[in-house]
Amino acid sequence: MSPRDPIGVFDSGIGGLTVVRELVRQLPHERIIYFGDTARVPYGPKSPDTVRRYSNEIATWLVEQRVKVIVVACNTATAHALENLQRDFPLPVIGVVQPGARAAVCATRNHRIGVIGTLGTINSGAYDRAIHAISREADVVAQACPLFVPLVEEGWLDTEATRLIAREYLRPFTSDHVDTLVLGCTHYPLLKPMLAQVVGRDVRLIDSAEETAAETCRVLTERNLVAPPGSVGTHRFVASDAPDHFLRQGQRFLGAAIDEVEKVTLG
Ligand code: DGL
Repeated sequence: MSPRDPIGVFDSGIGGLTVVRELVRQLPHERIIYFGDTARVPYGPKSPDTVRRYSNEIATWLVEQRVKVIVVACNTATAHALENLQRDFPLPVIGVVQPGARAAVCATRNHRIGVIGTLGTINSGAYDRAIHAISREADVVAQACPLFVPLVEEGWLDTEATRLIAREYLRPFTSDHVDTLVLGCTHYPLLKPMLAQVVGRDVRLIDSAEETAAETCRVLTERNLVAPPGSVGTHRFVASDAPDHFLRQGQRFLGAAIDEVEKVTLG
């Protein structure tokens, strides 16, 4: 494994590009290979076993591409598969749950933390466990928001319909007085300005993407695997289906144009 090897990132689809966006910002010299499992998205409603199997197939493919670290950008895949991947693969595997949980515990003042995510992520209890492992006194209020993913995919980031749904989903957080809300899904950072208005200024929103990129930076530094400053950070984007759709929509999540998307079928 060498500092010049790429970082492997995967997600159920294009949403994980919000994590790539942060990685590029914080680690501009790194090469990145991104795999979006667009043939099998969404992972949110799928069983833990199925998500583990998909994650294992993708990690195997990324290792074949000689990546130096794997970032599981998908919250649902992290919730169901991270432990198995860390056990079964001989390289560092970083998920999005732990960094998000740590940031939430640092941010809260009243120890009341809200978490939103897909059904799979919320039902797994992964954020509850990660937050309580750091702070026993934290009170966690979790809410699945399954309609947010299709709304973001549709580009409805701040329509009246999206606001109404957000008000409905986020009601428990206002009545329970949480002061920190974890955006526990790849798609939610795109809703951040609207969500901030719905929950109010006193609630701090935690974006797992930022924290995960910072964690990746720490892991690479610890292992002397940071790309040398002169390296050019080229990026390769791979989708398991509909690469054209990925190319068109990806820009919104990445915040930059994508030139080419390869198609690789797994399973
Ligand atoms: N990437 C998923 C996550 O962060 C959201 C989309 C899906 O359900 O696959 O949980």
